[in-house]
Amino acid sequence: MVEQYTGKDRRYAGDDVDITYSLKRCIHAEFCVKRLSAVFDKNARPWINANGASPDEMTSVVELCPSGALHYDRKDGVQEAIPEKNVIKIRHNGPLEVRGDLAIEGATVALAQETRASLCRCGASNNKPFCDNTHKEIQFEPVEAVSIDEVPSPSESGKLVITACENGPLELNGPVEIINEAGGFLFQGNGTALCRCGGSGNKPFCDGTHERIHFKAE
Ligand code: FES
Repeated sequence: MVEQYTGKDRRYAGDDVDITYSLKRCIHAEFCVKRLSAVFDKNARPWINANGASPDEMTSVVELCPSGALHYDRKDGVQEAIPEKNVIKIRHNGPLEVRGDLAIEGATVALAQETRASLCRCGASNNKPFCDNTHKEIQFEPVEAVSIDEVPSPSESGKLVITACENGPLELNGPVEIINEAGGFLFQGNGTALCRCGGSGNKPFCDGTHERIHFKAE
């Protein structure tokens, strides 16, 4: 049986804030080490000092983490705000960057409440459905979708459930906006399916190619 990923791997305790870190989900965007080296220092052991800055400084930097590898538990009870709308940004030659009121589920993952995630769309991650930067090794350079000129109406709020289908796409259920790297609008609606095999001829959407190429996700 495949082990299911449920979230917070390592906890770095501080007086006012505990910071949690998931090595498996880290894609080394490095906002943390570049913005707050007093707390996040790759050369120190442990590499996170949860007493290295004020609670507000630490938590605002944690919230920049696009992969969701970093989270926090504040002892004053303040929690990360859940974004009012769910947005998926298609990173150029890279992953799906998701922010919103999220649940992520599949054979290897069960996250009932999440706000940030970077999800694989090249098909080659060794940590599916999450990105692990393998797109760089395989030089994933898809033909990117062209944005449409439509101006979207304001997005609804509500939970977006992302299901990593067995050997198939990422099925989206719930309100979502999809934009490209430049912020161009690609989709707004309540459900669609995004390619995660890397083979679709209609990226970022699934076009059924995963069946033809016998995509194996798990
Ligand atoms: S998952 Fe890639 S075409 Fe369906």
